Amino acid sequence: MIFAGIVAGGSGTRMKSSAIPKQFIRVLDKPIIIYTIEKFVQQSHIDLIYIGIKPEWHKVMDSLLEEYSIDTQRVKVIDGGSDRNSTVMNIVNAIKSQFAVKKGDIILTHDAVRPFLTDRMIEENIIAALKYSACGTYVKCVDTIISAPDGEVVESTLDRSTLYRAQTPQSFDITLLDKYYSELDDEQRAGLTDTCSIFTANGEKIHIVEGDAINIKITTDSDLIIAKLLATRV
Ligand code: CTP
Repeated sequence: MIFAGIVAGGSGTRMKSSAIPKQFIRVLDKPIIIYTIEKFVQQSHIDLIYIGIKPEWHKVMDSLLEEYSIDTQRVKVIDGGSDRNSTVMNIVNAIKSQFAVKKGDIILTHDAVRPFLTDRMIEENIIAALKYSACGTYVKCVDTIISAPDGEVVESTLDRSTLYRAQTPQSFDITLLDKYYSELDDEQRAGLTDTCSIFTANGEKIHIVEGDAINIKITTDSDLIIAKLLATRV
């Protein structure tokens, strides 16, 4: 089976202008999380879509699903966790509690706050996860990246030709994701920056799916300005 896991359990502390978690902010009158959910709902290859949110947002989420006529037979809302990977793993556990997950079943994990992912990215994530067991979405760096450990002076300029920015979806064979995560201790788990790192920590290769600059993560107030512009053309 093919599952999507939309992680929406964050608080959006870097979005200073909003009192509510950024995934629920309306852009051109539609909440960001609804743009994201609709992208996955439109994909007939995806059997079920799980959304991990903070427990206190269930009522709001349920009424949004109703407002936007989202099929709740295909979209399930569960509690997220204390960090992003815990939200991913809560989704994996919810899937495991409902289905006898077997090798070859995959999950596309995606940030709720990346509403502009494309159909191509979803399709290529499905193909790559089925073939390679783990893949992520990445874009080549266009900026020159410097290293400045003390935050004051430039120590070195990195070789841009080998650098990529990580986006989502990040997609995995569910049995392997579950196995590798269960083998990590708390300290290792706390040190992981994204879900792909669960695989790289176990020596596994992550296949690269080409991302796109349009697939922004809405993090700060300036991202919200860009999101409003992008939403007019999707
Ligand atoms: N996320 C999650 N569960 C958490 C923390 C984050 O599902 N406990 C999700 C966020 O909702 C978001 C995605 O992970 O969709 C990417 O995280 P980020 O942009 O860092 O979101 P926040 O944690 O909400 O933002 P901030 O770090 O500014 O508080």
